[in-house]
Amino acid sequence: MKDALLKRIETRDYTIGIVGLGYVGLPLLAAFYKQGFRVIGFDIDEQKMEAFRTGTSYIKHFPAEEMQELSRSERVRATKDFALVREADAVILCVPTPLTKHREPDMSYIVNTSHAIAPHLRAGQIIILESTTYPGTTDEIIRPICEKASGLKSGEGLYFAFSPEREDPGNPNYGTATIPKVIGGDGADALEIAEKLYSAAIVRTVSVSNPKTAEAVKLLENIFRSVNIALVNELKLVFHEMGIDIHEVIEAAKTKPFGFMPFYPGPGLGGHCIPIDPFYLTWKAREFGLNTRFIELAGEVNTAMPQFVLRRTIEALNDKKKCMNGSKILCVGLAYKPDVDDMRESPTFAVMDLLQNEKAIVDFYDPYIPTITPTREHAAYTGKRSVEWREDVISSYDAAVIVTNHKAVNYAELLQWCDTVIDTRNALAAFASSAKPAQIWKA
Ligand SMILES: NC(=O)c1ccc[n+]([C@@H]2O[C@H](COP(=O)([O-])OP(=O)(O)OC[C@H]3O[C@@H](n4cnc5c(N)ncnc54)[C@H](O)[C@@H]3O)[C@@H](O)[C@H]2O)c1
Repeated sequence: MKDALLKRIETRDYTIGIVGLGYVGLPLLAAFYKQGFRVIGFDIDEQKMEAFRTGTSYIKHFPAEEMQELSRSERVRATKDFALVREADAVILCVPTPLTKHREPDMSYIVNTSHAIAPHLRAGQIIILESTTYPGTTDEIIRPICEKASGLKSGEGLYFAFSPEREDPGNPNYGTATIPKVIGGDGADALEIAEKLYSAAIVRTVSVSNPKTAEAVKLLENIFRSVNIALVNELKLVFHEMGIDIHEVIEAAKTKPFGFMPFYPGPGLGGHCIPIDPFYLTWKAREFGLNTRFIELAGEVNTAMPQFVLRRTIEALNDKKKCMNGSKILCVGLAYKPDVDDMRESPTFAVMDLLQNEKAIVDFYDPYIPTITPTREHAAYTGKRSVEWREDVISSYDAAVIVTNHKAVNYAELLQWCDTVIDTRNALAAFASSAKPAQIWKA
C-alpha cells in the first residue's frame, strides 16, 4: 500500500485535507495547492468558509490574489463537513493549542478535531499533527482516538506523524515553502509517506526518530527564544540602572562572528507561541517528577516587563509635572510583533491594564487592527477602536507608549505631535538626536 501511496503523491493524484485554516493552515493549504494537489480545508468558523466562497483574504500577509485563485479553483474545497475527511489521503491538523486559565495545556482543540475526523477515517490515510504541543501528544491522544474509531492500526492501514509548524507570519525572508520541515513518523512507512508529501511543497525535510522527538524539537526552538528574550529583558533592567543602553550593547556584541546571537528586549512576550508553548513542557515534565526551572524563570521575568513600562511612564509624566490619574495615554501598536495584525497574547493588553489601574485614560493606535475582536482573556476591550492617526488626535495625549514597532507608523510625526514618548522597542533610535529634551523615554 505504501508504494502505491508514494506513487500517487508523485503524480498528484492525491488529496490533502487541512483541519484549521488559520495563520498556519491557510498558507499550508496554499503551498500544497500550488504544487498541484487537490486540497480540502476544514474549519468550524463560518467566516472563513465565507472568505473562501468570496475569495477574500482574512490574514494580512496572505495575498488577496492567492485567496481569489483558491476560491475559483476546482482543486480547492473549504467545508465544515467532516464527512469529507474520507476523500482526503492526508489529514493535517493545524488547530490552536492555547493554555487554560490555570496555565495548563488546553488540549480541547486537538481532542475535538481528532474525534471529528476519526469516524471518517479509512485505510491508506496519514494523519499529521502540526500544532505545537508536548511530547507524546500524537502517541497518547491522536493515535488512540483514530485507531479506536476506525478499527485500523498505526502502520497497518493508518499512518501517523508529527511535523511542527515553524511559520513566522510577516517574515519577508521565510515562508511555509522555504522553512525546512522536521518530521517524526510513527514507523518507517509513516515517515516515508510524510517526507514524500512535504518534500513536494517544502524546500527540505529533516527526519527524526519518532513523533515525540519532533514534538520536542518545536518546544526546544520556542523555549530557546523565551529564555534568551528573558535574559536580555533582565539585562535591560540592570543596565538601565547603570546608565547603559542595552541596545547599544547588543549592537556591539553581535559583531562577534561566532558564539553570540542577538535577542532584543521589549515590553514583555506576546503571540500565540513563545509565551505559551514552553509551559506545555513544564506540564508534561511534572508527570516525570521534574521541574523546568529555566522555563518558569523566563516566564516570570518576561511577564514582569510591563511593570517596567508602567514605571517609566510614571517617571516621564512626573517629569512634566503630570500624574497618571486622569492622564491620556496612547499605546502605539497592539499587535504582538511588528508588521502583523495578530494581537493574541499581546503585551499591549498588559500595559493598557496597568495604566488603567493607575486611572489613566488609555487608547491605542494600530494601523493593522482597526477594532479589538473578542479575546478570551481581554473581553473588556472587545469593540475598542484604534484612534485615527491625525495631528489633532495624537497631540491630545499626554504621553504615547510605543509597544509594537510597526514599520508603517510615522515616528517622525509622532515626535512632532507628542511631547512625551515612551519607547519600549528602540523604535526611535534614528530620531534621538532631533528629539526635544526629555521627549523620548526608553523603557
Ligand atoms: N501562528 C503562528 O505563527 C504559529 C507558528 C508556529 C506554530 N503555530 C502553532 O500552530 C497551531 C495553529 O496556530 P494558528 O496560529 O494557525 O491558529 P489560528 O487560531 O490562526 O487557527 C486555528 C484554526 O483552527 C480552527 N479550529 C478550531 N477548532 C477547530 C475544530 N474543532 N475543527 C476545525 N477547525 C477548528 C479555528 O477556527 C481557526 O481557523 C497552534 O498549535 C500554534 O501554536 C502557530
